[in-house]
Amino acid sequence: MRYVPVNQLRRGMVLGRDITAAAGQVLLPRNTEFNEENIAYVAFLGVPGVHVDDEFSRDVEIREVVKPELLTGTVRTIHEFYDLTGDKKTANAPAEKKMLKGVESIVDSILSEDSVMYNMSELKTYDDYTYFHSANVAILSGILGSRLGLSRESLKNLIMAGFLHDVGKLFIDPQLLNIPRRLTESERIRMMDHPRKGYEFLKEHYDFPEEVLETVFSHHEWFNGSGYPRGKAGEDIPIGGRIMKVADVYDAMTTKRPYHPAFLPSEVMEYIMARSGLEFDPQVVDIMSQEICVYPVGCEVELSNKRRGIVVENHRGSILRPTVKMLDNDEEINLTEDKSAFRLTITRLMV
Ligand SMILES: [Fe+2]
Repeated sequence: MRYVPVNQLRRGMVLGRDITAAAGQVLLPRNTEFNEENIAYVAFLGVPGVHVDDEFSRDVEIREVVKPELLTGTVRTIHEFYDLTGDKKTANAPAEKKMLKGVESIVDSILSEDSVMYNMSELKTYDDYTYFHSANVAILSGILGSRLGLSRESLKNLIMAGFLHDVGKLFIDPQLLNIPRRLTESERIRMMDHPRKGYEFLKEHYDFPEEVLETVFSHHEWFNGSGYPRGKAGEDIPIGGRIMKVADVYDAMTTKRPYHPAFLPSEVMEYIMARSGLEFDPQVVDIMSQEICVYPVGCEVELSNKRRGIVVENHRGSILRPTVKMLDNDEEINLTEDKSAFRLTITRLMV
């Protein structure tokens, strides 16, 4: 299986994974053969790319810590929770119970797949941003937390906080959330209140552990104290908040939003590393820089010798130098270990 950007989809290619909406319905089932009509439909959905099965990539196995079905189920659960909360602004026990089940499944996946790196190349549909984003933030935070040695209980709290981290935005004017420009000072101040609003709502209506509430409250704090809403710094920020800060920025920046394009994973990683110690906790950045597949398996890349290939394997701790299977002759080049490849670099990710 490999990942193909929508603008490079061609007739006859075969969809390798279902495309689903946040509410859970399958928009296009796997094994669908592409034609002009369904290519136009996929472009209309706003997804940046899809996974296809073809002769060349049949043996390329994409392993993810959290399986696509579990991700889809999680997104659906978060969607339900936000919908019900948004209408009534009160607690909803059934939705909470479902989320707790989702948390258990994700923790189990993370702890059992600890050899798998974070290979998030899943589709992100623009309209369903909040739900996909919350699920991704929860999963990435959970992976980072587990690699940092958090207990199972703390991981559960971290993942639940990931689901809920932006629940305070339900109490902010929806128009303000999607303004496609820089916010004015007064708009920014209103927006910056969402961690507190989320914290207060959850505290009043639910019985979540303090660790969940504190993580929600502190997901926009900066390591150097310049964040909001409380301006906490260093280890005064709960570890969950320091982890979630990184996961939140990573997922938001790699997704197309009204006010910015989708940045490449490598670009975002560079941003995060440059701001280690300022915005982000250095120990979290350190783990992240070993763990993220900035060139996800299944993606096409171009090398500095102009040859193109598909990423077939990532190497922990050497995230810029995966193994690439060349399109022209099926040769596999391990950019980390092959001595003949030391002078080669990846110059482009086809997205
Ligand atoms: Fe937020």
